Amino acid sequence: IPTAKYGASAARFDHWIRTDFVELNTQLEELYFAQSDKANVAGVGDDLKDALRRGGHEHIVALWREGNTDDGFDSAFGVLGNVGLYMGALRRHELTNPDTEDRSPFPEASSLALHIGATIGMAPRFATAHLATHNYAVNGVRKSYTSLKDEFLFIDENTRGILALTEAAEALARIVPLGVSNMVALDLFESAAKSLERAIKINQGLFDNLDRDRFFYCVRPYYKPYRVGREVYRGANAGDFAGINQLDLLLGLTRASDPYYAQLLVDKLLFMTPGDQAKLKDTMRYPSLLDSLLGLAGHAEADWFKRAGAAYLKVADLFAETARQHHDNLVKKFIVGPSDDLGDQHLQQVTASGPPLPVLIRALEKLRDFRTAAKRDDIETRADDIAKLRELVS
Ligand code: HEM
Repeated sequence: IPTAKYGASAARFDHWIRTDFVELNTQLEELYFAQSDKANVAGVGDDLKDALRRGGHEHIVALWREGNTDDGFDSAFGVLGNVGLYMGALRRHELTNPDTEDRSPFPEASSLALHIGATIGMAPRFATAHLATHNYAVNGVRKSYTSLKDEFLFIDENTRGILALTEAAEALARIVPLGVSNMVALDLFESAAKSLERAIKINQGLFDNLDRDRFFYCVRPYYKPYRVGREVYRGANAGDFAGINQLDLLLGLTRASDPYYAQLLVDKLLFMTPGDQAKLKDTMRYPSLLDSLLGLAGHAEADWFKRAGAAYLKVADLFAETARQHHDNLVKKFIVGPSDDLGDQHLQQVTASGPPLPVLIRALEKLRDFRTAAKRDDIETRADDIAKLRELVS
């Protein structure tokens, strides 16, 4: 989001977010992390917390009084992200907590976020896109909460992962108007496979290089739910982009009408940019590539069928691997493991999406099992259909 497009107040706020805000959060993180109970924030660095609250408030009141959201989408989106980063930090430092309040104690920030969110058609909080795919760097400085190297690693690798999955989804979406029997579809399957191989390397890099405790204690807490006005908005997560769901739907691993998955799609739409919302809605109307292939099973002996079927299965297998990595490696190492070490008083506050950890893990398991087409009795995965396609292709 080019700052050149900002009005004067928005530009000043953006500068503050990229400088003092990062400095204050980083100092607070170092204080928390030095304690034997790293999860404790109570009574630590109160002067810094106060400077953070007051610093952002000044900018926000100026913007809120201007009441101007008319500098175009980029500017509105950028201001929404900055207000959201500020509110996310207030939540992280326990200057607000949705469990003990029935409305946000920050009415000006809430009103500004609600105004902009409604104007551009997004949830009134910071979204993944603000720190990932739309994190505009000014002279090499991208936005972040802190200057900790593990936060940059997380932000950068999330962005790379999102871009890789988005590329894979776009390649598959281009097959739809060509049809699976068109020879050119093979190029697109191949291009999707290459992007997924890249996503696998990115996941592995995060698994190997991210510091478990730094991530859990100093990065993850900024992604908690918080109140805007009266409502609680769930935390941002790296899944808030269209590509992941386009892959699910185009590969046919679940359906937009599946009772569980339909709810998930509706819940996440407003956490995406309007561009991604449009892409996802489009994809919800397409037939899946798996259904297209199985519908042509009568041609299973044809050369084109064998090749297209094998190309589909290669992509589906690679996608399954990314899902296994996410759940069995990343979620396990960076969320479940350190949560086991936490005292009960902190555990309640762990997940970005809000539900208690065991409930969240069960929900993520379902997604992994859709994506790996695992056999399950309680949800409709495509285990049998994928097995059938393997047989037809072999
Ligand atoms: C959601 C953990 C990196 C894609 C989630 C959730 C957790 C989580 C706990 C559930 C929602 C929440 O509470 O936030 C992690 C950890 C990561 C990581 C610990 C690395 C340290 C990534 C990356 C991607 C990704 C690199 C790929 C771009 C997703 C998706 C969702 C999600 C798509 C939404 C649920 C789904 O559709 O599977 N993640 N994640 N995550 N994450 Fe990650």
